[in-house]
Amino acid sequence: MFNSIKFKLIIWTLVLFAVVFTGLELILYYKLESVAIGFVDSHISSEVGMLSSLAATEEKHGQLVTELYEITGAASGEYAEKLSGRYFQVLDHEGKLITNSPSLYLADATLPVIIPASEGVYDVVEGPTGGPIRLYSKAFEFEAGTYIFQAGDSLDDTYMLLSSFRRIILMAYPLVFIACAFGVFIVIRWSLAPLRLFSKKVSEITEEKLGERVDTGIMCAEVRPLAESFNTMLKSLEHSFEKQKQFLSDASHELRTPTSIIKSYCDITLNKSRTEDEYKAAISKMGDAVNRMAELINRLLVISRLDTKTVQLEMKPVEVMGMIKGVVRLIDVTAKNKDIDITITGESVNIRADKEGLLEVFTNLVENGVKYNRSGGRVDVTVASGNGNAIVTVKDTGMGITAAEQTKVFDRFYRVDSSREQSVGSGLGLAIVSTIVAAHGGRIELESIEGQGSTFTVYLPLEDAGS
Ligand SMILES: Nc1ncnc2c1ncn2[C@@H]1O[C@H](COP(=O)(O)OP(=O)(O)OP(=O)(O)O)[C@@H](O)[C@H]1O
Ligand SMILES: [Mg+2]
Repeated sequence: MFNSIKFKLIIWTLVLFAVVFTGLELILYYKLESVAIGFVDSHISSEVGMLSSLAATEEKHGQLVTELYEITGAASGEYAEKLSGRYFQVLDHEGKLITNSPSLYLADATLPVIIPASEGVYDVVEGPTGGPIRLYSKAFEFEAGTYIFQAGDSLDDTYMLLSSFRRIILMAYPLVFIACAFGVFIVIRWSLAPLRLFSKKVSEITEEKLGERVDTGIMCAEVRPLAESFNTMLKSLEHSFEKQKQFLSDASHELRTPTSIIKSYCDITLNKSRTEDEYKAAISKMGDAVNRMAELINRLLVISRLDTKTVQLEMKPVEVMGMIKGVVRLIDVTAKNKDIDITITGESVNIRADKEGLLEVFTNLVENGVKYNRSGGRVDVTVASGNGNAIVTVKDTGMGITAAEQTKVFDRFYRVDSSREQSVGSGLGLAIVSTIVAAHGGRIELESIEGQGSTFTVYLPLEDAGS
């Protein structure tokens, strides 16, 4: 569960939400606080301004202190109500009270004395009722001397507003959080639906249903490449599965022929007593069939090892010309029996290769050149180098291969019909050759004209030579 994308996405989204929401709420709260306090500040500073300008006007007509008493006495509204929360007072330069608003003197209360420097100052102090008040104090110069004007507004309403705001936020927080978590859960579930669909489809595909494909059309853009890769993988799996099945059935088929031969000879020979010569002939026929089986089993082993890659190529320096000469020496006896001449021309070429594998390649090619040749024909082998490759051509004057069959002869168990009838080979030689050549990073090409002969050309990279 902790490892699921859904879980991680939900947790991360909620953490992000919590951080952003908390930050936003804090910003809003402090903004509201500063606006509310600013509102109070502008009220008390304008009150102080108004009182001081009234005093300045009245001073021109007579005694300032008397005028101040009159201004105070004329206060109306909340300033005239006892402990209403709106207050002002005037002090002399030493902080001695001159006069104050009825809201104070009716309760025999005063505001805390603050003697400001040159500028007016704002403070939060304890008011006459014990609650907090915002207090503005500013000194003014008159002809009669310096006087300090103070005005204060209760902060009870402001603090009540802020605390309601806090309460609303605290109540809204879990609700919004739950709504957000639910929303995120729904969105993620909906977003991951294509993945669930994909995984359901994948789980339905079994060994027997390798031909099935995931419908990429219904997948969303993010999952489609994954589904397409999966389909490609399925296709290649299906292909290799089919190849394996075909290989197994072909191999069994090929083994059945020599087995039937051996069985028939056993049955016929044993159904009555035979002469020594008859026994020898039967055993010799069975021996041929056993040899054929052994040859076939050897090839099957080579193919299976190449397939499972249990055979690592042992790359060693190889002199190609010398190897070809050795191969030809072995096949020459058979060739002579068929009156076929084998020639070798070219230069000495050194490459790094797997000796066993390369022997298999050249033996198969020269053997085919002899096997599918006419009596009195030729097999010409040339060894050269060019374009970074060792180039070996095996050219024969045999029956040739039709264009249609040229690509198929490299398939496992494929034999051209005429040679199938003669039952001269298993059809594995060229498949082994092409696999080994490819494993060396090389390639094999075939040119052939039916009735005239075939040329197989092997290219093997030189680059590792000598290293
Ligand atoms: N030089 C050639 N000329 C004409 N046909 C060829 C030649 N080489 C191969 N072929 C055809 O291609 C088929 C496949 O050859 P490949 O070497 O794979 O198998 P094979 O010779 O039948 O059996 P194996 O080599 O396993 O004993 C052969 O059966 C033959 O019909
Ligand atoms: Mg062959």
